[in-house]
Amino acid sequence: MSIETIMRLAPVVPVIVIEDAAHARPVAEALVAGGLFALEVTLRTPAALEAIAEMAKVEGAVVGAGTVLNEAQLDQAMEAGARFIVSPGLTDGLGRAAIERKVPFLPGVANAGDIMRGLDLGLGHFKFFPAATSGGVPALKALTGPFADIKLCPTGGITQDNAPEWLALKQVLCVGGSWLVPKGQPDVAAITDMAHKAAALVA
Ligand code: 3PG
Repeated sequence: MSIETIMRLAPVVPVIVIEDAAHARPVAEALVAGGLFALEVTLRTPAALEAIAEMAKVEGAVVGAGTVLNEAQLDQAMEAGARFIVSPGLTDGLGRAAIERKVPFLPGVANAGDIMRGLDLGLGHFKFFPAATSGGVPALKALTGPFADIKLCPTGGITQDNAPEWLALKQVLCVGGSWLVPKGQPDVAAITDMAHKAAALVA
């Protein structure tokens, strides 16, 4: 699967922080049941790699790793079963490693220089991060002027309510957000319900 195919699986990519690996499967099942298939598990907790491995067993889930900061973490995430890699920013080292491994890669960009570095590496799909505080929808609109061919997944400050403004932009294929999986013991019914609503957003 290409990164573009993954971005087009659903209008929202849940950004997931798992504290307890035992929560991983029920959370992934609830999201998939609600119609969200690309799942970003952030490498921010000791349970993250095990969570990726557990979620990867859920039918229909395409599980990726987020908050990947360097080549070593990229390799750990891939070993755990991550099928795509998301990073908050773009370094040449991480970009080259992702390209070399042929793993779908969505690096964070926040300005024109970041995008130009990505294009230099041969990348064309980016996470606009942190979206709301990097100028919001007007900033993204301005950036897509000179970069008419890139495809984007804004993340950071996106909610069910403001997602439509972002998804209305032509180059935005999906948005990312953590609202779908609140902290703590997962409420599977509530997660499925939020996922249904998110999956019904129009990209
Ligand atoms: C991320 O890592 O992409 C962000 O923490 C998600 O941002 P949000 O919590 O504002 O959705």
